Amino acid sequence: HERTFSMLKPGVLQRRISGEIISRIEKKGFHVTAMKIMRISEELCRRHYSEHEGKPFFPGLIAYMTSGPVIAMVLEGENAIAHLRLLCGATNVDEAAPGTIRGDYASVTRMNIIHASDSVESAEREIKLFFKPEEILEYVDDSAHWLG
Ligand code: GTP
Ligand code: MG
Repeated sequence: HERTFSMLKPGVLQRRISGEIISRIEKKGFHVTAMKIMRISEELCRRHYSEHEGKPFFPGLIAYMTSGPVIAMVLEGENAIAHLRLLCGATNVDEAAPGTIRGDYASVTRMNIIHASDSVESAEREIKLFFKPEEILEYVDDSAHWLG
């Protein structure tokens, strides 16, 4: 199993669609092994998106991402990094296909609803930025026990 980092961006809680989006992630088969609601500081945001420093959209990205609460998550699953990126859809809302989370819920690229790590290195770096090791749950998939 692979781990990835995801964040529901500002606006999702306010629009009251966080449950719906988490539900889509769960139904795909991901395990949520850590989750917290938080406001991110400008410093954390700059570190998280450091690869984009200097790009024209960077100031707008930081302003938006620090403008409201987010839900940070660690997700685990088979090929989790690539699968979550597929589920999210394209970065640019004009290219995000219907059926993807961005395609279904976002109408402005800057406010594209959800973040997903783009590589193993990013996932491990981002998980460390947002969570202490003891905040990440380890559990065996015993769903048969609960579902019968
Ligand atoms: P994240 O999962 O948030 O990292 O998105 P991504 O990996 O699909 O895209 P990328 O890392 O390249 O860009 C990070 C974020 O910056 C995007 O999600 C957008 O919100 C924003 N962004 C990227 N490119 C543009 C752009 O050309 N214009 C604007 N306005 N925003 C952009
Ligand atoms: Mg990215």
